[in-house]
Amino acid sequence: METVATSVAVIGMRHLDDAEFDRWVRLLEERTGVIVPPERKPFLETGLRRRMRETGHTRFDAYYDELFDGARGAMEWACLVDHLTVHETHFFRHLPSIELIRDEWLPGWLDSAAPDVSLHALSVGCSTGEEAYSLALMLDVELARVAPSRRFGVTATDVSQAALVLARAAEYPMRRLAEIPVAYRGGVELLPDGESFRIMDRLRKRIGFACVNLLHASRAPLRKLDIIFCQNVLIYFARERRGEMLDALVGLLQPNGLLVLGPGEAPGWSHPQMRRVGGRQTLAYLRNTERDPA
Ligand SMILES: C[S@@+](CC[C@H](N)C(=O)[O-])C[C@H]1O[C@@H](n2cnc3c(N)ncnc32)[C@H](O)[C@@H]1O
Repeated sequence: METVATSVAVIGMRHLDDAEFDRWVRLLEERTGVIVPPERKPFLETGLRRRMRETGHTRFDAYYDELFDGARGAMEWACLVDHLTVHETHFFRHLPSIELIRDEWLPGWLDSAAPDVSLHALSVGCSTGEEAYSLALMLDVELARVAPSRRFGVTATDVSQAALVLARAAEYPMRRLAEIPVAYRGGVELLPDGESFRIMDRLRKRIGFACVNLLHASRAPLRKLDIIFCQNVLIYFARERRGEMLDALVGLLQPNGLLVLGPGEAPGWSHPQMRRVGGRQTLAYLRNTERDPA
């Protein structure tokens, strides 16, 4: 029989009132930078409920308090964050950005970088891996064509551990194969089940996935990068914060390094060390060639 306490708890579970919603929004923003506007309340509530069902919680407030309970709270937060962030992604999601790298940036980089230097790219907010694999599939083909001795590596980061597990597995349903241009499908293999494909080991080995919060990217042990690809992440951040995040990414770029954002993702942002490159279909910046002052 349902006790009074349980029925109150169930009612609490059913309704996230405005004050509680604000509290959750603040927590998410403090910890990830992501903001949830009021019209996205159902998204936040659904994500919370899903995780609370998994953990047997019935009250939003009790669950909230548990997230501050030392290491246990930190572990629970790591699971919850996956339910509160948007992971939608595709292979070659924004083709003009890939073409900009391939046709405009790469030839110049190959001319200027010493022959033994390898190329390093970063995919920020990589979700389930498609963005990082798109870069790798393209670089694999293009470097083999014009500079076969060049090596490359991709680091891909996200705040969601669950997304990273899928990214590392590198297996995708067959219908997603159509997202990959035919010229870049050489790096995938069809699986015996006939329903899925996988990124080949030789490419997977070139990609390192890591759980890094973009808010702390400047402190992450990342090497200086030639390409930073950051699309469809900053759109979830408050405008004021986007500039700080972009400034931090600039600090991770090599001279002549390329920062590729999604069109419209950095309104009004500029940086003394960066200049806009590419056409109107893309939003990309090249870092100037002067090194940081020591
Ligand atoms: C919509 S997906 C974008 C995926 C991919 N970049 C693309 O454009 O297809 C946004 C990703 O950003 C991640 N994300 C959100 N806040 C983050 C943060 N503070 N640090 C790192 N990743 C974050 C989410 O977990 C999610 O996987």
